[in-house]
Amino acid sequence: MELLVRQARIWGREGLWDVGVADGRYAEIAPRLAVAGAQELVAEGRLLAPAFIDPHIHLDKVLVAGEVRPNRSGTLREAIEILWERKARYTVEEIVRRAGRVMEAAVLTGTTRIRTHVDVDTIGKLRPLEGVLAARERYRDLVDLQIVAFPQEGIVRDPGTGDLMREAVRMGADLVGGMPHNEASPEESRRHLEICFEIAAGHGRDIDMHVDETDDPASRTLETLADLTVAHGYEGRVTAGHTCALAAYPDRYARKVIGKLARARIHMITNPPTNLLLQGRLDKQPIRRGITRVKELLEAGVNVAMGQDCVMDTFYPFGRADMLEVALITAHAAQMGLPHEIETVFGMATTRAAAALRLADYGVEPGCAADFVVLDAPTAAEAIRLQAPRRWVVRRGRVVAETVVTHRLHRGGEL
Ligand code: FE2
Repeated sequence: MELLVRQARIWGREGLWDVGVADGRYAEIAPRLAVAGAQELVAEGRLLAPAFIDPHIHLDKVLVAGEVRPNRSGTLREAIEILWERKARYTVEEIVRRAGRVMEAAVLTGTTRIRTHVDVDTIGKLRPLEGVLAARERYRDLVDLQIVAFPQEGIVRDPGTGDLMREAVRMGADLVGGMPHNEASPEESRRHLEICFEIAAGHGRDIDMHVDETDDPASRTLETLADLTVAHGYEGRVTAGHTCALAAYPDRYARKVIGKLARARIHMITNPPTNLLLQGRLDKQPIRRGITRVKELLEAGVNVAMGQDCVMDTFYPFGRADMLEVALITAHAAQMGLPHEIETVFGMATTRAAAALRLADYGVEPGCAADFVVLDAPTAAEAIRLQAPRRWVVRRGRVVAETVVTHRLHRGGEL
């Protein structure tokens, strides 16, 4: 064994286990392994979980907040507009630097797989993609990065973006993104969606869109996305992020849309940190939470994951790329506090995100890739409650990060 973890609790299993890794994959998992490991980690009952996944972040935009004017209205619209001028000045080197800092923070907190959206439009053109592709190369020993070509400024209303999207896919973007509600009319939103499906089907790519990121109940592109997913035979291959308007729909219409999402097997990603801050800005009281209908989607059998979305950009001034922080915020925002609900929230950063990313070799099982995090906590609930230190982070059987925290209480005042 190249790596052995002794006496770990494993998320989803009872008891204590030894975990043996060879060739970057789990080789054996048993109560006691008699073999020796080239490297051994003594877990002492800590929780071992599959490494976290952040399925929705914008690495091209991270850490720009200090260099632009503040977002005074706090709305999504102003956040997008502030970025126009900054985006036109991006360089590949600074994108690599900013994205790299956040990818390092992600790895240090237990995340080894990330899906990032990257702006593709006539302002920044393909520069953001060049930067994130270079960052992917620079960090390929630490992070698996899926890249989504994201037409944030619209496609119909931003002529030329369709061709840039096709070029982005040729350059190395893995998925086709979308922002269908950012068009001038329902007809143009539909055209936006159709163009995305044309590009995706033409290049054999999956789809991951920003859908109805607004609390306007008239924003109804999610239903069209579900219809087109079935029409194109894309069931299971489409992800919808944000979908804030789903929470604003009348209950009857929301139920109808959720039924269609289940039939289209669309993966949903909620982004509570950003959406709690940006949505409901025009409400007096009660102010809506601005996040999608997480519990109703889960009850209908729809896969739901969660993402950090933003780190210190024009949309959101906080964020540490730490999925335990996202989990804590999501549990509050979605009101998930029962024991089984907390387990589900933990799954939204692990197994549920893996399903959205369509990863075949994810999980703590023999044969799967040995990407895991050992937490300074015995359970998922305690890990979220305590925001527990990530004692070790392992990717493909190699320790890529470790954290040791020292706390001392000085009752007599002595140091
Ligand atoms: Fe987003």
